[in-house]
Parts: sequence; structure tokens; C-alpha cells
Amino acid sequence: MTGEELLARARAVQANAWARYSGFRVGAAVETDDGSVHVGCNVENASYPMTICAERAAVAAAIAAGHRRIVRVAIATDADAPVAPCGACRQVLAEFGPEMTVLSEAGGRTGEWTLDELLPARFSEVDLPGARAPEHE
Ligand code: THU
Repeated sequence: MTGEELLARARAVQANAWARYSGFRVGAAVETDDGSVHVGCNVENASYPMTICAERAAVAAAIAAGHRRIVRVAIATDADAPVAPCGACRQVLAEFGPEMTVLSEAGGRTGEWTLDELLPARFSEVDLPGARAPEHE
């Protein structure tokens, strides 16, 4: 799948976002190591902090479908320029693919980063006492 196709999946699910408080609709599509794609959108709540970001919703969908490795994530918004995932989502994405590529499309432009660029020196399972090999490795 091309990056454009993955971004198109993110753009499609953006339409389902529940963003009545911020008005900022986000769609995300993650690609796993077998090439399957799982999508998510932001889900806001009257209790604002309960909001779920699109990226974390897409990660949850991939994991629930049995996947353990994410190689790419695409994000679609209506911002003026491509947005990078929030800090919390960077941490959650890193759990399943520290080397993943992050694509983001907005304002007719596409941004591209590696997750390592976005979240260097992160906390991970190797920092835990008695660290063991993660399930997906
Ligand atoms: N949001 C995402 O879904 N992903 C991001 O990377 C940034 C922010 C959502 C959360 C909230 O519903 C809205 O965008 C405004 O912050």
C-alpha cells in the first residue's frame, strides 16, 4: 500500500470522528507488519479529559484484531498544515513499532517523520525492572 492509500484510509475514517467539543476531527490508519490496515477516529466526551485520540483508537483496533507490530501510521486532519501525534499517542504508538513511519496530511501537504524522531529517549519496556522480551518479539 502506498502512503497515499494509507492517508486515504485515515481521511475516510475522519468523517466518523466524534469531535463536537473541539470541532477538530482526526482520522488515523495504522498498517501492521502483515500489511493489514486498522483505523480509528477521535472520540470526545462531555467529560473532556475522557477523549480518545484517533491514533490510540487505531492502535486499539489493530491490537484487538490480533496484531502486535505497527510499521506505519497515517493521520488526516483539517488543520492548515500536517500535525504530528500528541505526546500520549507517540508513547502508545512506540509500544508497537519504535521504528514506524508517521505520515500526516493537511492543507494539501504531507508531513513525514519517524517515531524515533518524534519521541527520542522514550520510556519503554527495557526500563522496567526485570525487563522481559515483549510479546511481539
Ligand atoms: N487529537 C487526536 O485525535 N490526535 C492527535 O494527534 C491530536 C489531537 C484530538 C483530540 C481532541 O479530540 C481533538 O483532537 C482536539 O485536541
